[in-house]
Formats: sequence, C-alpha cells, structure tokens
Amino acid sequence: MKELKILFIIAVLVGITYWGIEPYAHSKMHPHHEPATFAYADLKAPALKGDPQKGAQAIMNNGCTGCHSIKSQNIPAPMDPVTASASYGVNPPDLSNIGAVVDQKFLAAFIKDPVKAFKLSHKFGDNKPFPMPNFFGSDQDLADIVAYLVSIAPKEISPKEAFETACGRCHNLRYDDWTVIGEKPKFKNDVEKADFELKLAKYEANLKKYLGTTPPDLSMFIRSRGHEYIRDFVEDPQKLLHGTAMPRVGLTREATEKVIAYLEKVGDRKKEKRDSLGVWVLLYFVIFSVLAYLWKQKIWREVH
Ligand code: HEC
Ligand code: HEC
Repeated sequence: MKELKILFIIAVLVGITYWGIEPYAHSKMHPHHEPATFAYADLKAPALKGDPQKGAQAIMNNGCTGCHSIKSQNIPAPMDPVTASASYGVNPPDLSNIGAVVDQKFLAAFIKDPVKAFKLSHKFGDNKPFPMPNFFGSDQDLADIVAYLVSIAPKEISPKEAFETACGRCHNLRYDDWTVIGEKPKFKNDVEKADFELKLAKYEANLKKYLGTTPPDLSMFIRSRGHEYIRDFVEDPQKLLHGTAMPRVGLTREATEKVIAYLEKVGDRKKEKRDSLGVWVLLYFVIFSVLAYLWKQKIWREVH
C-alpha cells in the first residue's frame, strides 16, 4: 500500500512538470506564431502569361544585366562582389538559379516593387533609396522576364546552390568555407590569404552600412534556432523579428527545405551518427532489461 502511495505522488509530480512547467517555459522561450504557408497572400499574381523568348530580350532592354550576372547564359558579372557592394551595399545575386528557388508570384511582385515584396519599407524609402529600381515596363514585359528566369533555371538544384542563390550574398557559412564574396579558395601563400580577408572585410563593412547590422554567420544557427524557426523566419522575417533588416526573400517551400537541409548538413555533422547511435543504445537497454529480469528471477527462486 505504501509503495502505491509513493508511486501516486511521484506520478502527480512528474505530471505537473511534464504538462505544466515544461510547456509553459517552452511557450515563454518560443512564443507561438502561425507556421509558414509560403502562400505570399499579400502579393498579387500576374494576370498575363509570359513568353521566355521575349523575356530574354526584355531582360537586356530593362538593364537587369547591368547589375546581375546570369552565368549559365554566359552573361558575366559587371563588377566583382566588393566593387558591387561599394555601389549597391550588397552584391546583386546571379540570376541563373533564381527561378528554381523563388516563388513565381513573388518574383513578379519583387521585380515590380522590390521594397514592398522584401517587406523593408521601414528601412528603405525616399531618404534611403533601395539599390534595385522599381520596374516601370509593361505587365507583358514583366511576365516575359519571369517566364525567362523560370525557363533557364535548372529543374533540380542542390541544397548548397539553393543557399548560395538565396542567402549567400549576406550570410557567411564558415564551417563549409562559404563567404559572402564566394567560396573561400585554397591559398598558396599568406599574401593571397591576407588579400582575400581584406576583400571580405571591405564587403562586410559595405554590407553593414547597407543593412545597419552584420548578418550572422549561419554555421551554428540550425542548433541554436532549429528547423521550424528557420523555416518560418525565412518565409516572413518580420513576423518573428519585428523591424529586422533581413528581407523576405520569397522562397518556395521546397527551396526553403533545401536551404535548411544544407544548414543541417553543415552545422550538425554529427546528427547522422547520433541518429544511428540511438538504435544501439535502445538495443543495449533491451538486452540489459532481459538480463536484469532473468537475474531477478534467479535470486527469488533461491530465496523461496
Ligand atoms: C542597379 C542595380 C540593379 C538593377 C538594374 C537590377 N537589380 Fe535586381 N538586385 C539588385 C540588388 C542590389 C539586389 C539585392 C538586394 C538585397 O538583397 O538587398 C537585387 C536582387 C534581385 C533579385 C533577388 C530577389 C530575391 O528574392 O532574393 C532578383 C530576382 C532580381 N534582383 C532581379 C532583377 C531583374 C529581373 C532586374 C531587371 C528588371 C533587376 N534585378 C535589375 C540590383 C539591381
Ligand atoms: C539582404 C541580406 C540577407 C539575405 C539575402 C538573407 N539574410 Fe538572413 N539576415 C540578414 C540580416 C541583416 C540579419 C540580422 C537580423 C537582425 O538581427 O535583425 C539576418 C538574420 C538571419 C537569421 C537569424 C535570425 C535570428 O533569430 O537571430 C537567420 C536564421 C537567417 N538570417 C537566415 C537566412 C536564410 C536561411 C537566408 C536565405 C534563405 C537569409 N537569411 C537571407 C540579412 C539577410
């Protein structure tokens, strides 16, 4: 009887901790927010259907390649990243893979009015103009440009490419030798290394001036923030960090999952090992329980 009472008290205490305190602490540390839908419901879908061939011309006529490279189409960057950051604050992304990561509706809305789509009107306006101009061409030209960007994008891109296209101009990922000015090369000597570090420092200074803050290296963020937070943050940064300078970059759900898969691979290299270790730990407990049970049986048999 006494044992039952003790068991009951323990069960109640565990219950309070489990259903009372833990969820309360959790809700304080991670306030509830709506999970990401990737619908971009505040933006209007373009009414017209685009023609990719005409889009190839329109993208030239509208000056996009004056700032952006499209390397897969042999259109080189007009400037190196550091020079570009001196002019624009950030290196305009290469457009080869944009159509594979950015939602089509978002893409059209962004080209038409970048600040609105990025949700950065609290940062950019008349006294601080956004570096990329609004598009004043016809709606047909706009639809053609989007169709073109989608048509040149590869059907399948790697998690790493998704990260580089969507986040790589602002975030370092030192654990995988990614920097905001590109892949860190293998240096032949100290001079090369110092030269690279100087370029990186100049770019980062320009980026800081542009955004008002230095975007963090994301190597460890998968551990400190976790999968769900990063997914919901990418879909709408303002929702989780009101007033932040991080733009809403308009990724599709699939592309976001790709980016996160890459962050997991880089930031949590031991994860696979840990997961496979779990099976062995469980197996150990099973074998141990069986042995303990047999041993108990044996002892009691001798006692009786
Ligand atoms: C004067 C330079 C300039 C011109 C011209 C320009 N862009 Fe940009 N573009 C930028 C910069 C700078 C960024 C990055 C801004 C940032 O991340 O804060 C950018 C970002 C983008 C992005 C990324 C959007 C995202 O969701 O991350 C796309 C797509 C894009 N531009 C397409 C175009 C197209 C299409 C044109 C032509 C109609 C064009 N740009 C013209 C400078 C320019
Ligand atoms: C135009 C630059 C820019 C781009 C592009 C960009 N970010 Fe950011 N990001 C920022 C800035 C600036 C901050 C710092 C925000 C702050 O502290 O207010 C930030 C912060 C973050 C944080 C930390 C949030 C926190 O809770 O502290 C994460 C995670 C993040 N970004 C992920 C991404 C991912 C993933 C991508 C690509 C899909 C991306 N960012 C693209 C500028 C950018």
